[in-house]
Amino acid sequence: MIVLGIETSCDETSAAVLEDGRLLSNVIYSQIDTHRIYGGVVPEIAAREHMARLPAVVDEAMKKAHVTFSELHGVAVTNRPGLAGGLIVGVSYAKALCSALDIKLIGVDHLEAHMLSPFLENEAFKFPFLGLVISGGHTNVYLAEDFGAYKLLGSTRDDAAGEAFDKVAKMLGLPYPGGPSISKAALSGDPQKIVFPQPQMKDSSFDFSFSGIKTSVLYYLQRNEEKLKSGEVTKEDVAAAFQKALSRSISNKMRRIFAAHPVASVAITGGVAANAFLRSEIEKVAAEKHIGVYVPSMLLCTDNAGMVAYAGYEHLRRGTTSGMDMEIATASEM
Ligand code: KG4
Ligand code: ZN
Repeated sequence: MIVLGIETSCDETSAAVLEDGRLLSNVIYSQIDTHRIYGGVVPEIAAREHMARLPAVVDEAMKKAHVTFSELHGVAVTNRPGLAGGLIVGVSYAKALCSALDIKLIGVDHLEAHMLSPFLENEAFKFPFLGLVISGGHTNVYLAEDFGAYKLLGSTRDDAAGEAFDKVAKMLGLPYPGGPSISKAALSGDPQKIVFPQPQMKDSSFDFSFSGIKTSVLYYLQRNEEKLKSGEVTKEDVAAAFQKALSRSISNKMRRIFAAHPVASVAITGGVAANAFLRSEIEKVAAEKHIGVYVPSMLLCTDNAGMVAYAGYEHLRRGTTSGMDMEIATASEM
């Protein structure tokens, strides 16, 4: 079974070809250079870029996979959640292809695609597992019991983790996207110099909260201008302390989740999973419970159509395909 995957929900235009669960190609055109000057993704510009780039990106993915359109069994496309304009471009393109080729259309939830991405690289990865999806728009943790059987255990009450990285980077004058900038800056900073407080949740839920840490960074910068000017404290120190505080808040929550839901593995997925410090913090608490940690390779952590093609393939195998009246949604249903 050969599936073409399409991803246009944010600022990556991507297409991938997958045969029987194995990726043949995964082409990603990142729009980061276009959006950088604005300090973030401009939805209207993103949609126009997707429109301009998608046909060539699809052609390249097909060529790299040595597959012709007539060999496709279905087209999997992210139809939720994301920026409406980009989603419409991807979904319209997918519908046109499916109708011209008379093949199946599969609408994919971007979060499900992230969460299942370890299946693309690890034969040992199996259900049930705990799925952490940490991206620019979401910070959700699921108990994934089987394909399609996902229980949301906790999510963020304010900013997504990636959003907090992006906002703090902006405060520090570091370039967009903030996650990679902060992790790079943190490498030469001292994480012990400043201690940002951990979020105090008043209940015992598994929800996350990052806006408090973000605000603490803002206040710190406002109150310590002199120290920063004199070099007593550097931007790199602030980046390292922020990264540590945010990572600890996630790993502390994961420790409680591991205790409540003793499964054999945890998947750390989404763009923020590219953060090595955060990963190592979660790995430490997972090791306490002998839980295996699965993290996709860098390319499969951030947005890509390979993960969309995989989730679509699993749906197609089960016959859960979409009609031509499939709509887009800006929010996830997971
Ligand atoms: O999954 P993704 O590519 O797009 C969404 O679905 O949102 O995630 C993008 C987010 C951005 O907020 C970006 O700053 C963050 O992932 N990110 C990182 C790193 N690389 C990307 N955050 C922390 N450390 C990184 N190394
Ligand atoms: Zn994503």
